[in-house]
Formats: sequence, C-alpha cells, structure tokens
Amino acid sequence: MDNPFIFRAYKTRELFCDRQKELELLLSNCLSGADTTLIAQRRIGKTGLIYRLMDEIRSEKIPILPIYVDIFATRTMEDFVKALSAAIMSAIPEKSSIGKKFSKFIKSLRPVITYDVLTSAPQLQFTIQGEEEQKQTLKGLLTFLDEQDTKILLAIDEFQQIREYPEKNVEALLRTIIQTLHNVTFLYCGSKRHMMLDIFAGERNPFYRSTEFVTLQKLDRDVYADFIKKHFLEAGFEIDSDALDYILDWTMRHTYFTQRLCHTVFNMATSKVDVELVKQGAAQILQSDAAVFGQYQQMLTAGQWNFLIAVAKEGEVTQFSSRQFLQKYHLGNPSSASRIVTSLVEKNLLDESIHEGKSTYSLNDVFLSRWLEEKYI
Ligand SMILES: Nc1ncnc2c1ncn2[C@@H]1O[C@H](COP(=O)(O)OP(=O)(O)O)[C@@H](O)[C@H]1O
Ligand SMILES: [Mg+2]
Repeated sequence: MDNPFIFRAYKTRELFCDRQKELELLLSNCLSGADTTLIAQRRIGKTGLIYRLMDEIRSEKIPILPIYVDIFATRTMEDFVKALSAAIMSAIPEKSSIGKKFSKFIKSLRPVITYDVLTSAPQLQFTIQGEEEQKQTLKGLLTFLDEQDTKILLAIDEFQQIREYPEKNVEALLRTIIQTLHNVTFLYCGSKRHMMLDIFAGERNPFYRSTEFVTLQKLDRDVYADFIKKHFLEAGFEIDSDALDYILDWTMRHTYFTQRLCHTVFNMATSKVDVELVKQGAAQILQSDAAVFGQYQQMLTAGQWNFLIAVAKEGEVTQFSSRQFLQKYHLGNPSSASRIVTSLVEKNLLDESIHEGKSTYSLNDVFLSRWLEEKYI
C-alpha cells in the first residue's frame, strides 16, 4: 500500500484532511464572482487547498474552468506573462474549442513551443520585447479568457512575487486590466503576510479592498487526529491515542511537519503504533534534516541564530521586546531584537501570526525548532 501521508503535491481528496469550510467559501466566491485573497504561513496547506478546490470543481462538474499559476519563480513581467500563458495552455484541452482559439492567439505572438525533456509537458518559449508589448500581451491573455463562454477561476499562487519585478506599476497595470473583466474570478494566494496585506489592504495601492480575505489556521485537532488514525487503520496499523497526541504536539499541528512525521512513522510501522515508534520516527527526521539546519546557521549572524534558539525554546513568543524575554536569553535591546525579527521574518525562518490583534512569532520550520530545543540546553 502506498504511503497515505503525502507531504509534496496534492493527490486526492481522500488523502487531504478537512478544510471543508474554507473549500465551501472559496467555491461560493468563485460562483458569485468575488475575488479572494488567501493568506497563511508557509506549508500550512494553501496550495493544497487550491488543488483541492480545482479537484472539486472538476469532479463535481461545476461549470467553472480552473487555471492555476504559481509565480514563485518569476522575476519579471515577461516571466509572469509566460507563466500565465503556460498555465492557460495546460488548463485547457488543446482540441477543445477554447484550446483551438488559444493556440491561434498564441501563434499570433510568434512563440516557439518546445517540450520539456523530463515531463514532456509543452513549454512556451517566446520573447516579448519591450514593456509596451508585454502589457498588450497580458491584456490580450486576460481578455481572451474573459471572452470565453465559461466562468473562469484564475488562481495565482505566491502572488506577492509581483513586488519583486523590476517594472514599475505592475499592480496598477494588473488591476486596471482585471477591473474590466466579467467572467474571470481571481484567487490570490501568498505566504508573505506583510506584503500581501500591503497589496490588498494598503489604502494607497491599486488592489485596495478589491478582494475578500481568507486565512488558513491549523487543522482542527480532533479532525486531524481522526484522519491520521483512519489512514493507519486502513493499512492495518492500530495507533494508540498517546501516539496520536505525541504526533500532533511534537509537530505543533503544522500540516507539512505533521504529514512528514506520519509518513515516516507509517514507513516504520509493522503492527501497532505507539509513542516509542513515533519518537523513533521523530529522531530519524531530525537526524536527516540536521545538515540543512547547519546550513541555516551559516547563513545567519550569531544574534539571529541565538534569537531563533530562544524562540524555539519558548515555542512561540508574543512580546519579543519584553525585558523579561530579552534578558532571559541575553538578546540585547528591543531595537536590535526588532531588527532581528524583521530579518528572520524576511528570510522565512520566523512566522508571524495574529491572534486577537497581537503578533505571535514561531519558527516556520517546526523540525528546526525541535532540533534547536534539544541541542541547546
Ligand atoms: N488538509 C491537508 N491534509 C493533508 N495534507 C495536506 C493538507 N494541506 C496540505 N497538506 C500537505 O502539506 C504540505 C504543505 O502544504 P502546501 O499546500 O504546499 O502549503 P503552502 O502552500 O501553504 O505552503 C503538502 O505536501 C500538502 O500536500
Ligand atoms: Mg504553496
């Protein structure tokens, strides 16, 4: 039996735990044409949820054509336009009527279509010279979608990446085009809270209040426990409740980390799963990730590294500038601590989450957090 605990790409709804409420909300937004901004910390399950949504749309034959584009690796407007074209191309069947129209449209851009040697997926290669031509192409692509006889969902993952493009006014340009569309609904997704909030809630910015915000919290504890138990049981492994508690506590219920620990324990299981086996699984993971953790240390200043250790020991920190916290771990003054926090958030090593108006910080990498806690006594 294949390991049911995945920690890479989405597979099936059976292997995806819950998110029912969020799914329904996103679906009803797609249907009503309301654009949505989905913000949550890294590796909690945003991309998985988008795939789950597209799966639902396809399998329930909901009359929406979903298109997904991940712009994490894009660096310029030209990259963006290419990524979008490739996404449209892979979302619509080549032989369908939209597909034919799209090929015609693309041909007018004089691209060279090549095939990826590894996946044999078609890849677009064309150069769009000059900013003006890029704008026109972008407008052309989005207008093309809007003119089709179907509602379209365009999900743009890692949307904050547009802030890294060297071109000016990317947001204004996009917003201007998007405002004219009627049949395309947008789902903007991103992990960098500050940037996403600035884009969509910054009063001076083009996307200001143009979307509904959705956040993803950790999965519900009982629901996740049932999910894990069920998948062990289906493979013939009984798991006791202490073992389940240990898994959920040790991984802080952070989806990717919980999935990975379950994956490892599943591979080790022979009959019953107990706390001992779970601890062995956890130790195995820390051992294999230790090389990566060493690399982090190389990248950071001593001050940043010590700060991470302190947060790891606390689990989470709400008032990092309090005297008590800074003195306990010898972390210097509040203003240097504040600089360190900013840089660690920027490097994706610390996550910021907001509870009742207060920012709480924790390590994004739960395994690094556990490792630091153990290593530095
Ligand atoms: N609800 C879920 N049930 C099971 N696995 C999930 C769930 N959500 C996410 N995952 C898995 O956790 C990992 C991280 O999720 P991902 O969607 O990539 O996070 P994000 O996009 O927020 O960084 C992926 O391997 C994904 O398949
Ligand atoms: Mg993602």
